[in-house]
Amino acid sequence: MHLLLTGGLGFVGSHVCVAMQQAGHTISIVDNLANSDSAVLEGITKITGIKPYFEKVDVLDTEACIDLCQRQRIEGVVHFAGLKSVVESVAHPKRYQQINVGGAKSLLKVMTQCHIEYLVFSSSATVYGVPQTLPLREQSPLKPINPYATSKLAIEQLIEQHAQNHPEFKAAILRYFNPIGAHPSGVIGEYPRGKPNNIMPMLMQVAAGILPELLIMGDDYDTQDGSGVRDYIHVCDIAEAHQAALSALQHGQQTIAVDKYNIGTGYGISVFELIETFEKTNAVSINTRIGARRAGDVASCYADPSHAQQHLNWKAQLNLKEMCQHSWQWQQQLLKNQKAQSQ
Ligand code: UD1
Repeated sequence: MHLLLTGGLGFVGSHVCVAMQQAGHTISIVDNLANSDSAVLEGITKITGIKPYFEKVDVLDTEACIDLCQRQRIEGVVHFAGLKSVVESVAHPKRYQQINVGGAKSLLKVMTQCHIEYLVFSSSATVYGVPQTLPLREQSPLKPINPYATSKLAIEQLIEQHAQNHPEFKAAILRYFNPIGAHPSGVIGEYPRGKPNNIMPMLMQVAAGILPELLIMGDDYDTQDGSGVRDYIHVCDIAEAHQAALSALQHGQQTIAVDKYNIGTGYGISVFELIETFEKTNAVSINTRIGARRAGDVASCYADPSHAQQHLNWKAQLNLKEMCQHSWQWQQQLLKNQKAQSQ
């Protein structure tokens, strides 16, 4: 298929581009470069030998997207474009509504106008809010607790409504748990912009000596060792899930118009466990300090990924050691690139 990846130069988008190219699809990318770098294109090309078609276009620019989809004869879309910081969303809730929800509305118009039937949407486990029971299943209650999560849920609902009005339309909604890791080649990964908030970028900057210490945000949770528990998943496994979802849409394995899938490993890992595995795997030592809980954090959050396993024939393959190894390999590559640029 010829696919459009919106936000395809971002962390998850770039890994999905590689997986889709390796599965034989042709890729066009639109990205406004608000939180990505066009150098990612070279990284993708190094891995697959194929440079994806790229235009610096905002998904809110409906006409430009229609024009591109018609020229490139797009048959399916994977939608990543949007803002993704929980902290920023609390400070600027309107921005999340305008850009994330507005972007999805624009994209659905484009799809209708260009008769594009298949959509895979990048959603997040944050739509569940504070888990009532674990593991989280797709039927678990949806109670977003911040504007970022609210915007993701609003998009899921828009997609459902769109399907009701367009019988030919089919969509897979992927709810990611905590994406970490990087491509094993070491040439693509997450580009940190500003001060990181998520634990893996923080951990890597401490290991690299950029930050002095990692603050462990709470050691008094009701978990096995008191620290927060999350379902960390390798970004390459997430990328494979998109490929599997598209295939399920295309070949009719997904029998309903819109379905949702938890994309996690199903295993809860604590902050202490993550740090220990990172240290052992990469032979580095991490300076830590115990701090207070972060407002809005939950004790534990992990997936029941069995729906994706049954219906998409997808299961996470890479373990925590590989996630830590590939993250660190990418961080070192980033430092090398930055050094070369400053010389
Ligand atoms: C965050 C986002 C969520 C997003 C997810 C993956 C919030 C409230 N939620 O979730 O929307 O989908 O990232 O990108 O921001 N921790 C530390 N020290 C740190 C940073 C984090 O101990 O410096 C702990 C946290 O308390 C938590 C765990 O590490 O227990 C994971 O934190 P983080 O990587 O920020 O992910 P989430 O909070 O799960």
